[in-house]
Amino acid sequence: NRKTIAVLPGDGIGPEVLDAALPVIEYLGVPLDLEFGDIGWECWRAEGNPVPDRTWELISRSDAVLLGATTSKPPREAAAQLEPELRKRGAQYVSPIIQLRQQLDLFANLRPVENYLGGGTPYRFCVVRENTEGLYAGLDFRDVPDEMWPLVAEHPNVLRSGHADTTASIRLQTSHGLDRILRFAFETARHRGYERVTLADKPNVLRHSSAYVRQRLETIAADYPEIISEVLNVDAVALWMVRRPERFGVVVAENMFGDILSDLGGGVMGGLGLAASANIGEAGGYFEPVHGSAPAMAGQGRANPAAAFLTIGLMLEHLGFASEAEGIQEAVRHVARRRDRVTYDLGGTATTTEAAASIIDACRSA
Ligand code: NAI
Ligand code: MG
Repeated sequence: NRKTIAVLPGDGIGPEVLDAALPVIEYLGVPLDLEFGDIGWECWRAEGNPVPDRTWELISRSDAVLLGATTSKPPREAAAQLEPELRKRGAQYVSPIIQLRQQLDLFANLRPVENYLGGGTPYRFCVVRENTEGLYAGLDFRDVPDEMWPLVAEHPNVLRSGHADTTASIRLQTSHGLDRILRFAFETARHRGYERVTLADKPNVLRHSSAYVRQRLETIAADYPEIISEVLNVDAVALWMVRRPERFGVVVAENMFGDILSDLGGGVMGGLGLAASANIGEAGGYFEPVHGSAPAMAGQGRANPAAAFLTIGLMLEHLGFASEAEGIQEAVRHVARRRDRVTYDLGGTATTTEAAASIIDACRSA
């Protein structure tokens, strides 16, 4: 029962960090078949499609997708010198990540946060972000639609501005979307051994919608009696993530709140070099380091491969290889504390391949 992984290295430092980290899979003897596919900006330049049909086909017969990094927003110079033929065809560059999330309905974004660098209090929690609705549901209007006017027309600032230039965005939440993300949060707590689920919301301002979310939370929490659940204001969660990160287990939030808190989690932990993410849906998941393609750093062998290792760990955990996943995390914990073994972003001098070799070595001795 070998599993198939679609490996999509993508752009910039994506191929570099995956090249460095992928040997750990064979090293640990995990029965996975890696099949490589094309995705991203370079792929679009070459053939006018950032996610070609053969890549969709590969994804559809794979058990998981492992991504390096893609250029989601091409640099302005690059866009200015687009291949004339592509421009003529009007081939649009649509972020491949967004295409994957939408096509595969990957509703949960999971980002672990841990004190890998050591020093201070140990902490280990994760942020679960809802990926498909909330304030990023796409109901974002430059001009308020006529049907909505009666709802906004009486707001004091709308009156003060004489009804000119008003924008509106709607935080959409559905019972379907809420139940699946909340259940995912509790399942994550149960499987990863966290004792607490914290919903980060804004009940004292968004009173009606937050009251409904709390009601869904309480209903679902009843199925997980061993897990503590609570609702906190999102701003308080931000403060406490910095001041007392050890108090959290799973922090779950709607799309925009979760977007912000998940980047904050990366910052708490010491930067993009250690931030891994999973995007999970009913049909499977895709796994990628949080960082982008860092085009300015590409080709220099300086990128930190640790996030790619931790991402592979998350994928192995999802596929049921828990002890191998733990082995990778333990190796990163071990190496991240040794300044002579890490890359520049963590204060070291190691190259991508040197840092990767140290992590694989640490897996060996574990
Ligand atoms: P970025 O994450 O690529 O780089 C931001 C900064 O972090 C840079 O200074 C870079 O040198 C540093 N950095 C990133 N990864 C690192 C690593 N592994 N080791 C050491 N240092 C690292 O974000 P940026 O520059 O804003 O975006 C570049 C491209 O990547 C853009 O096209 C953007 O749209 C795309 N992007 C894609 C993401 C995705 O695939 N989900 C996420 C973020 C950006
Ligand atoms: Mg973000």
